[in-house]
Amino acid sequence: MVIKWKDAYSCYDPAIDEQHKKMMDMINQMAEIVELNDDADHYDELLEIFNALKDYAVYHFSHEEKMFEESGYDSFNTKIQIHEHKGFINKVASINLYDLDENQMDTARNVLDFLSRWLDHHILVIDKKFGSFLEENTI
Ligand SMILES: [Fe+2]
Repeated sequence: MVIKWKDAYSCYDPAIDEQHKKMMDMINQMAEIVELNDDADHYDELLEIFNALKDYAVYHFSHEEKMFEESGYDSFNTKIQIHEHKGFINKVASINLYDLDENQMDTARNVLDFLSRWLDHHILVIDKKFGSFLEENTI
């Protein structure tokens, strides 16, 4: 397990929290494969989870972006969020699948390191700000 849910991750919105938990589950599924640390070929499994996570991230980001609009979140913070989301999608798209196939464990470890750090920062620094805004602005 490389990332574990904690109360500090709560963004005061049940749907956003559930989506973050699901992303953590996917990251941890990849970690489980890496932790096997065997010589078997895990490319197909790794790729399947990785692709599922990419798709889910797109869904999650669009959910958040819709909420920014609906809740009247300020444009400065909305821009920061959208920039973060694009950065994640670009980074994930730039991961070399040839490396993931040829050098599976090292590449997967690097990917996991990036994903877990990114999600931790995304939640604690970026989404929490929106969560506090939601909390202050809902009755
Ligand atoms: Fe998020």
